[in-house]
Amino acid sequence: MSYPNLIVLTGFMGTGKSSVGRALARTIGYSFIDSDREIESREGRTIHMIFESEGEKYFRNLERETIARLSQNSKCVLSIGGGAILDPETFERIHQAGTVILLKAEVSEIVGRLGHENERPLLAGKDRKKTIQKLVKEREPVYSKVGIQIDTTGLAVDEVVQKILKKI
Ligand code: S3P
Repeated sequence: MSYPNLIVLTGFMGTGKSSVGRALARTIGYSFIDSDREIESREGRTIHMIFESEGEKYFRNLERETIARLSQNSKCVLSIGGGAILDPETFERIHQAGTVILLKAEVSEIVGRLGHENERPLLAGKDRKKTIQKLVKEREPVYSKVGIQIDTTGLAVDEVVQKILKKI
């Protein structure tokens, strides 16, 4: 079987990009990279800390640069943070470099999967479900432009991997 040289997983927080990406990479013998983990290891601090001390704009610039660099990888599954694709340059770049797959899930499932973790700065605050609903709605016009979309609601990681393999 031959697969695209670079497979990019995008989609909202909690849609399974990292766990699915890791399992997909293992299944097809590719390496797996998560842009957020790459940013954290380069910066020596968490995404949360970067947002807190430098602000979102600084993070988005880092994210754009990091993804530009990682998009040059071969035989790689690259998972990118849920907001990265909103940047027009990143949108263009990942589509030029590889096959882009958007993972989706119902809001209630996203809320359940994220649980009470507080690693995601954009979800800090009281009504997490409302925040998620608002962000998903705002992002929909860009997310909907991705050609391959997979609904992960109610599916186990391996089931999502199988769905992806049928589409690429
Ligand atoms: C963000 C998603 C996060 C991380 C940052 C911002 C977003 O990544 O990049 O907290 O804007 O949706 P995950 O989608 O991997 O959670």
